[in-house]
Amino acid sequence: MNKLLIIYGILLFIEFHNIVPAVSDMCIHDEVAIPDVPVGELTYRQMRGKREKHSEIFQPLNIHYYIDDIDPNTPENVILNLKIAFKKVVKFFQDSVAVRSSFNPFLIERSNCAQKWVNGINKNKCSRLKSGPEFCSIKETDYVIPDRYLNKLEVFDYTSPHPRHILKAGPGVKDANFFLFVISRTTSWCTENNVQAYGSYCRLDSYNRPVAGLLNMCPTYFSKKIYKASHYFHVIMHEIIHILGFSVHLYPKFKMCTSIYDCETPKKIAEVDSNGIQRLIFPELVKSMQTHFNCSEEEFGGPLEISQGRGKASEEMKYTSHWHPLLMYTSIMTPFIVEDEYIVIDNITLALLASTGWYRVNFTIAEYFHFGKGEGCKFGFKANCEDSKHLCSPKDAARNCDILRYTIGKCESIVPYHPCGVFKPNHEESCLDEINMQAKEYEQRCVMVTKTNVAEPNCLLTKCISTNEFEFLVNSTWGKCKTSEKAEINNVTINCPELGSICWDEAKLVNKTFCSWGSDEAIAVRMYFADQTYQQLLESDNIRNFKVSTLQAIAENLQMSVNHIVNATLTIFKGAFLDFTLCPPSNMSNDKLGALIEKTQKFLKSSSFIHIFKGATEFAVSSTTIVGDVCESEIK
Ligand SMILES: *[C@@H]1O[C@H](CO)[C@@H](O)[C@H](O)[C@H]1NC(C)=O
Ligand SMILES: *[C@@H]1O[C@H](CO)[C@@H](O)[C@H](O)[C@H]1NC(C)=O
Ligand SMILES: *[C@@H]1O[C@H](CO)[C@@H](O)[C@H](O)[C@H]1NC(C)=O
Ligand SMILES: *[C@@H]1O[C@H](CO)[C@@H](O)[C@H](O)[C@H]1NC(C)=O
Ligand SMILES: *[C@@H]1O[C@H](CO)[C@@H](O)[C@H](O)[C@H]1NC(C)=O
Ligand SMILES: *[C@@H]1O[C@H](CO)[C@@H](O)[C@H](O)[C@H]1NC(C)=O
Ligand SMILES: *[C@@H]1O[C@H](CO)[C@@H](O)[C@H](O)[C@H]1NC(C)=O
Ligand SMILES: *[C@@H]1O[C@H](CO)[C@@H](O)[C@H](O)[C@H]1NC(C)=O
Ligand SMILES: [Zn+2]
Repeated sequence: MNKLLIIYGILLFIEFHNIVPAVSDMCIHDEVAIPDVPVGELTYRQMRGKREKHSEIFQPLNIHYYIDDIDPNTPENVILNLKIAFKKVVKFFQDSVAVRSSFNPFLIERSNCAQKWVNGINKNKCSRLKSGPEFCSIKETDYVIPDRYLNKLEVFDYTSPHPRHILKAGPGVKDANFFLFVISRTTSWCTENNVQAYGSYCRLDSYNRPVAGLLNMCPTYFSKKIYKASHYFHVIMHEIIHILGFSVHLYPKFKMCTSIYDCETPKKIAEVDSNGIQRLIFPELVKSMQTHFNCSEEEFGGPLEISQGRGKASEEMKYTSHWHPLLMYTSIMTPFIVEDEYIVIDNITLALLASTGWYRVNFTIAEYFHFGKGEGCKFGFKANCEDSKHLCSPKDAARNCDILRYTIGKCESIVPYHPCGVFKPNHEESCLDEINMQAKEYEQRCVMVTKTNVAEPNCLLTKCISTNEFEFLVNSTWGKCKTSEKAEINNVTINCPELGSICWDEAKLVNKTFCSWGSDEAIAVRMYFADQTYQQLLESDNIRNFKVSTLQAIAENLQMSVNHIVNATLTIFKGAFLDFTLCPPSNMSNDKLGALIEKTQKFLKSSSFIHIFKGATEFAVSSTTIVGDVCESEIK
């Protein structure tokens, strides 16, 4: 006989939409970085044997991150999304960057020695300790490093070879070579400027490579709404690239090697070009710049943001830790992280990491960077902004396709100190809205169409044939377009876009999504069950069946396939709760996604839903009260 099982669910901490991300989101790395951080001495394995002495062993850059000190009001969803993003960022570096092998398990050295002996048998050994814990600090944000990550420190008397006092070494972390401490704390930095996240390194090794860093994900920013998975990824990626080396105070410490015996610090870091742009001129970086822009000038280095004296720190500095926002538009390392669909982890940024001398970089992982490609040495500084393919003059009202041809862009200035603008994405005139996902090879993209001598951007259905050829549909007739040529059809002329503008290799994009079919927003849900259900589950031997049929019932109620529910975990411990993640269809618009979340919320909140349990075990109808937050505190 089947009985009714009533499951009471509540959806916790779901917040969504209607909050427009501020355009002023600006990274404050240079304001929080501390110029002089403790330098350790012992990180590297002593090379034994003659052969090994002459070669260095490299291993993947393995960032061990530890999420601690999270603001208790941070929505679960945000935490889930952050965790996923951290995993992806860590994997990115494991796959693409290698560092010299260090001690295994990895530990960082304590910096709390206040004084060392200057002579005697214990010369250079610690004679006196500072009081207090070991901090990983950046300006106005301190983090106490847990002992398990710290190496031992011995304190000696003048005459005895035996230490008077020992701070013990922690167990460390196997195969790691970088520690990232992640916090989510509301600090004055977070509230002042709508800052998303900020961080910096707090320990260097004997080669000056950063080996530990602190990253604060501002709760005020991340609690506002659910962002796309790629946004969490980009914010974390951006800050970690600073922490790993893209940082003003580290430039003079980069290690320039012609061979492993012959390394030195850079003689010259940046060069001001004839347009007043500071360019970082590390050789590997210049090579990458030359390749991308097709310019063979010797000092064609990476263009830096012009320091506008925001904050006291930057006034005294010649350089900043960001690329020029216009000349490197869409790169992950410009000062703003907006428009996630457009941001790329570009080859030039990877070349900067390679230029540090601490890393070996596999460049094949770089994402396709379209902006300024092949535009030459004068890119951005031709007589007219319009002479550059990707630039425009903000004074004109000209309309054109945005850089990725997803929308009909508007020419807008990016920074006040450069006369040119770019066609910024304009989501009010998006070509993507009507994508037909059933036939994925067809995509609507923006193309310039000339009719009676007037060129106008139009959204046309396109289909890639190869990287330099695609078909397009104009008034029910298909035409063919070859890179940079013109095509005529039905009395209209199509200016076929340049190479890489419409048809590129999707496989060259880093997977930043959570859900397997590429949906960018994951909705994390935790449902608590009534006490009685919990009791019955304890006695039941059919928990799996319970979970499966519950998920089926949820899917039915939300009118979506059960395949859209992933990573479901039923926990029975001082209460019963079910965690799962909803992966919405990838073609869902923001409005529809909002509606789905509301529906989920309403459905789980509005007391209950009923489903008939058809398993072998029968559960009694449980109490009719809704289990609320009480349950949560019981579980913890
Ligand atoms: C990326 O940069 C490296 C290092 O400078 C260079 O060798 C390589 O050719 C560049 N690749 C692309 C696609 O620009
Ligand atoms: C670089 O990465 C690609 C795949 O991402 C891999 O096939 C290739 O072997 C790597 N190159 C080196 C030198 O490790
Ligand atoms: C690079 O520029 C030169 C002239 O400056 C030109 O001849 C060549 O075709 C360009 N190469 C590419 C790939 O754009
Ligand atoms: C298609 O035809 C309609 C009506 O004849 C016309 O208004 C429109 O401009 C045409 N589109 C293109 C891209 O030529
Ligand atoms: C193209 O223009 C010619 C001459 O003006 C006209 O005869 C023809 O009908 C036009 N074709 C279309 C498809 O509009
Ligand atoms: C992207 O990553 C997710 C989660 O790591 C994985 O399940 C999915 O298969 C990946 N998608 C692609 C297209 O590789
Ligand atoms: C799946 O859910 C469990 C429990 O909530 C969580 O610990 C785990 O990280 C999740 N897996 C992924 C890939 O997010
Ligand atoms: C989204 O895709 C699904 C299946 O892939 C399809 O059934 C649905 O009609 C699509 N919705 C829109 C708005 O294109
Ligand atoms: Zn930054």
